[in-house]
Amino acid sequence: MPENLVTSSTLVFFVNGKKVEDSDVDPEVTLLTYLRSKLRLCGTKLGCGEGGCGACTVMLSRYDRRRDQVIHYSVNACLAPVAAVHGLAVTTVEGIGSTQTRLHAVQERIARAHGSQCGFRTPGIVMSMYTLLRNHPRPSMDQLDQYFTGTLCRCTRYRPILEGFRGLTTDAPAGGGCGKKDCCKLKAKDSAETNGLLNGTTSKVQNGETEGQLGEVSDVTHVLYDAEDFQPYDPSQELIFPPELKVQTEWETQYVEFRGPRVTYHRPTTLAELLKLKTEHPQARIIVGNTEVGVEVKFKNQIYPVLINPTNIPELIEVTVTETGVKFGSSVTLSTIEDTLRHQVDTLPEYQTRVFSAILEMLRWFAGKQIRNAAAIGGNIMTSSPISDLNPLLMAAGAVLTVRSAEGGVREIEMDENFFTGYRRNVVRPEEVLEAVHVPYTHENEYFVGYKQARRRDDDIAIVNAGMRVAFRPDSIAVERLRLAFGGMAPTTVMALSTMKELEGRCWDSSLMEAGTSLLLQDLPLSASAPGGMVEYRRALTISLFFKFYLSVRGRLSEQFPSLVHPLTKAEQTATQVHRYIPPQGTQLFQSVPPGQHSLDPIGRPITHASAFKHATGEAVYVDDMPRFENELQAAPVLSTRAHAKILSIDEKEALGIEGVEGFFCWKDLPEERNKVGPIAADEELFASKKVVCVGQLIGLVVAKDRATAQRAARVVRIQYEDIKPCIITIQDAIKEQSWWTPLTITKGDVEAGFRSSEHVLEGEMHVGGQEHFYLETHAHLAVPKGEDGGMEVYSATQNAAGTQRHVAAVLGVPLNLVTCRVKRLGGAFGGKETRNIMLSVPISVAAAALKRPVRISLDRDEDMQMTGGRHPFLGRWKIGFTKEGVFKAIKIDLYSNGGCSLDLSGAVMGYALLNHDNVYRCENRHITGYPCKTNLPSNTAFRAFGSPQAIIVTEYMVSRVAEFLNMDPDEVRLKNMYVSGDVTHYKQTLERCTVRRCWDEVVSQADYHMRKEMVQQFNSSNKYTKRGIAALPLKFGLGFIELFLNQAGALVMVYTDGSVLLSHGGTEMGQGLHTKMIQVASRVLKIPVTRIYIDETSTDKVPNTTSTAASLSSDLYGMAVLNACTIIMQRLEPYIASNPKGEWDDWVTAAYFDRVSLSATGFYKTPGISGYNFETNEGRPFNYFCFGAAVTEVEVDCLTGDHSVLRTDIVMDVGDSLNPAVDIGQVEGAFMQGLGLYTLEELRYSPEGVLLTRGPGTYKIPGFQNIPREFNVSLLRGAPNPRAVFSSKATGEPPLLLATSVFYAIKQAVASARADQGFSPVFRLDSPATAERIRMACQDSLTQKIEPAVLNNEKPWSVTV
Ligand SMILES: Cc1cc2nc3c(=O)[nH]c(=O)nc-3n(C[C@H](O)[C@H](O)[C@H](O)COP(=O)(O)OP(=O)(O)OC[C@H]3O[C@@H](n4cnc5c(N)ncnc54)[C@H](O)[C@@H]3O)c2cc1C
Ligand code: FES
Ligand code: FES
Repeated sequence: MPENLVTSSTLVFFVNGKKVEDSDVDPEVTLLTYLRSKLRLCGTKLGCGEGGCGACTVMLSRYDRRRDQVIHYSVNACLAPVAAVHGLAVTTVEGIGSTQTRLHAVQERIARAHGSQCGFRTPGIVMSMYTLLRNHPRPSMDQLDQYFTGTLCRCTRYRPILEGFRGLTTDAPAGGGCGKKDCCKLKAKDSAETNGLLNGTTSKVQNGETEGQLGEVSDVTHVLYDAEDFQPYDPSQELIFPPELKVQTEWETQYVEFRGPRVTYHRPTTLAELLKLKTEHPQARIIVGNTEVGVEVKFKNQIYPVLINPTNIPELIEVTVTETGVKFGSSVTLSTIEDTLRHQVDTLPEYQTRVFSAILEMLRWFAGKQIRNAAAIGGNIMTSSPISDLNPLLMAAGAVLTVRSAEGGVREIEMDENFFTGYRRNVVRPEEVLEAVHVPYTHENEYFVGYKQARRRDDDIAIVNAGMRVAFRPDSIAVERLRLAFGGMAPTTVMALSTMKELEGRCWDSSLMEAGTSLLLQDLPLSASAPGGMVEYRRALTISLFFKFYLSVRGRLSEQFPSLVHPLTKAEQTATQVHRYIPPQGTQLFQSVPPGQHSLDPIGRPITHASAFKHATGEAVYVDDMPRFENELQAAPVLSTRAHAKILSIDEKEALGIEGVEGFFCWKDLPEERNKVGPIAADEELFASKKVVCVGQLIGLVVAKDRATAQRAARVVRIQYEDIKPCIITIQDAIKEQSWWTPLTITKGDVEAGFRSSEHVLEGEMHVGGQEHFYLETHAHLAVPKGEDGGMEVYSATQNAAGTQRHVAAVLGVPLNLVTCRVKRLGGAFGGKETRNIMLSVPISVAAAALKRPVRISLDRDEDMQMTGGRHPFLGRWKIGFTKEGVFKAIKIDLYSNGGCSLDLSGAVMGYALLNHDNVYRCENRHITGYPCKTNLPSNTAFRAFGSPQAIIVTEYMVSRVAEFLNMDPDEVRLKNMYVSGDVTHYKQTLERCTVRRCWDEVVSQADYHMRKEMVQQFNSSNKYTKRGIAALPLKFGLGFIELFLNQAGALVMVYTDGSVLLSHGGTEMGQGLHTKMIQVASRVLKIPVTRIYIDETSTDKVPNTTSTAASLSSDLYGMAVLNACTIIMQRLEPYIASNPKGEWDDWVTAAYFDRVSLSATGFYKTPGISGYNFETNEGRPFNYFCFGAAVTEVEVDCLTGDHSVLRTDIVMDVGDSLNPAVDIGQVEGAFMQGLGLYTLEELRYSPEGVLLTRGPGTYKIPGFQNIPREFNVSLLRGAPNPRAVFSSKATGEPPLLLATSVFYAIKQAVASARADQGFSPVFRLDSPATAERIRMACQDSLTQKIEPAVLNNEKPWSVTV
């Protein structure tokens, strides 16, 4: 610490208005850890730890003395070091409102508008919105959209969130609804209000059917909530900025130094101090946003002993407008750059700010808002990442950097081809500091464009990006100077030097473009094994982007030199368009409750999720939020880094030597027979003993005083391996080695005879990629020894309480009655917490039992993604025989799934794939075989819709090929073969009440499908580089567990003497609204308001032997169990009701209590009329009933980049008589979005050695706010009661996911049109997901023809398709 300075080593900041002072702060600790662990403010969540999900969003506020203004900005607390908030005010979700006091308008809106399902990332969204309101009390929807980049939600499709907040924006119509005078929402609301109290009784209940309702059709309504009930937003009521921070200046002006055990943090206040520090510690890291360094420290295990925060040094945060451009201090944040450049663009002549406009456009797609608020331009340049978004622009613009050192003084460096010297290296010396960046204006005869192509448009890193600048000779179209800089094509950002040189002096015409593309390919070679893969695509992108640049500039020149340059044709114009923001819109239609329904009867009404308000305030408790036990320990896993290898040795000595480490557990801590686990077959080792069978397999567990220590120790446990052959990674490897578990087959009719009698036979193959669950809450479990008899209490984020209990008991060697598993709620699951939790909840129980102390584990996102598997990748090989009219005669399909290293649920997943693969198509002769392949990947597992999405997309592929072959409309083929009631499936189940045709007809009409099909054709005939596609897809999905015994459920109802009811059932709440629906069922039967019924948790000591919450069946099963339990209570109360008919619930309960009547009852249910299914005999009735639906989707594809937008989706879904339309519509939309991710965006990449390369939101992209269909209309089919489930309802959790096939086939259609235009066959193979890479490479044209195939010569590819 420099002498004679006002210094501080005490961290001071304010949280929610309260002052925090800490004289012992560790600078390695992030703000998130500090908030959660030290201040116990657990509303702010850890979703990824890498700035990619937004779950940790908080608002920072500082006082800007120069402007006399408080500045508010959102940041990711997971990346912000706590040291960096010295002198700032932090606002967390707990600070803005609570259910105990008053909800903030933002919290109320997101909850009431059904914008929260699992609730785990709800506080993050709340804080993004809150920050926006603090800065713009009446923002626009566009601003809202921008503030939400960097905020992910896996459950909802974002629509309810945006809609809930719409009322706070300038786009809000007064009084809710669409704003039109005759708004149907408002009308419907009126009619809903008149429904209320009619006869005061509910319908009688029998076997789950509502008597008298079958076939009755009530009115349709849109009203999911009433916006008029929202309290108005009053900005004057906001938390005030701490006055002390305004008055005191010392926290800003003092030199700060915090010393931790491994890292010292400096915050100098002058440039001289900074330079001195850099001279003394040349390897010190300067951190502003910490968005690069934080990720390096967390995920690459880097330690930087000296960190310097330069954000209080005036020269580094200054913005100066010069005569030739704008100079930004290197610590100026990207958000400030946006604001500055926008002002410049708005006030200067257009030609002068062309570089600025390009930077602004780039920043729109640069990370999320929270990152842009924290990260600085200096960090982007100095990191020198080859995929930096700013560097290509700055290089092409000729930006000049000012660097300075204490001894060397100042240097000015132009960012040109000599600036970057290697991967993440540049010419700035270690002792030098980047002081400022000068970005020049453009001249009148200069044009500048920036491009970025990523997998997801918003908040994603680039695959290829570019900055392109051309200056013309005066009054000429001859190039004077050209600068072309590209990212993503080499270890550094590079300039295409020969292209730039060769094209100088040439006229801007098609021959220049031709020459330019060929030269670029020479300038930017890429080896077939280049890191990042996508080699041909990246090469195609470089020339496609150059072609776009050529067209853009030609368009401008044609205005200036009309006699020399042809204007762009309409078709060419679309190639130059930048992405337009279209505010999302849509409608949700459902059947209102029948006129006679009592106003207190909640069935059929859009009741708010039971935990929504607690989600929105951060009060909802997830496992990692539970208060710490006094002697609690935290665990971290030691994972295999080899896919198939002998374990030669495990050396944990160094780990055990770390202070705070309390133990290491591995296979040696268990008898061999208890080290075996698995939900169906015990074929997995809990801890790998002699060999490992995948990367990410659990070898050991370190337990320590805290999570960071445990993780640090886990990293130094040394494992020696010896590789074993074969190492089977892909399905193709497995086929070669015939590595699979018992294949399953279903045969109907005589398939060979069917082929013989067919007029045509086609064959083909399709690969369908896997999917990561990406629940926002990672796996989290807590094992607490009961203290006697060897008992264990396990708090678990699992879908399977009984399964967890069973495994813990078996491994500990105790009976089940000594182990209790408790599940409060899950932050999303989607199948990922059905069985794989065993690999964590059981090991921590082993550690807890041995140490006799509570042990908790909560995985980091990268650990979770590596360990826990996901949706199975599939390969489908099909053969179909059909008549010339398109009627199917015979179908043969072989499905191969990549099951990973253990059976887990792979057999069952394949079973569902086989049963559901027919989708809605009749065929008398079928033979379908499924091979669940055994490979050396982490075990793949259950995932929403369980194998059906993979099977159905293959079937639809086959159907579309038949249509292509016959030159028929695919809809005609679909309708010709579509099931009707009475048809019998290949597993001999007769279809009853088949509503698929109704759904189809309704969606076709709702979507104006036929008219829009023609419009799409018209659009395509006049557009060459942008194409549209529209597709209608139907859906059938069977509901039932194939294993008969699983179709059972239990519930417990306890009525207390004050009349309140505690309800328990065996299902878990993971966001799908199960508890809400169960409360609704109980409310109807007990005839009391939902507010009197509470569900605390799912626990094996209340309801034993539960079936896991899966297969969309829980409402059906537990709903009936609850109904039965409540009916028993009502039967017991009947005499008291009869003797006091004017009394109320409380009177009857009191009377019964004093009369010594039991007020608790268990309910049990087993689904009648089903018998499971036997694959060997093809006997049984696997499904209780079927769900049906249909969707129409229209997309637009950029044929030059492969980007696509979903313009509109319409869905009609049969959910029977909905128990809760808000929950059901939320499930329909959320499932559809997950399917959209599966089929278009989400791509798991594995190295040839079986290492998962996509291990977090930075590399694995789930749909974001920008991916939602711009128009999304959902209708629940009216008048379709289902007699086979509770109150005539149907399941909704999984089936709608399959409707996202409509997106895939709309894209395929658009690509086919592009190919046809370019003279290529419209028949082509497109595997799933239809990523930008696959789309671009399928849109073959003269540019892709220039790309030579990437051929590997003994090198390994960067990734393989598994
Ligand atoms: C979720 C996420 C999304 C992202 N998305 C994008 C994206 O879309 N596009 C993109 O290009 N990048 C992206 N990034 C990367 C990163 O955000 C940017 O590079 C950002 O500009 C870094 O700035 P920072 O202030 O946070 O850097 P820091 O992490 O604070 O520092 C980065 C490096 O720069 C050095 N440095 C900083 N200032 C100076 C200086 N004055 N003198 C010398 N050295 C200095 C530091 O020593 C350090 O090595 C993303 C990062 C995350 C976490
Ligand atoms: S936890 Fe911070 S962004 Fe995901
Ligand atoms: S509610 Fe958004 S992640 Fe669950």
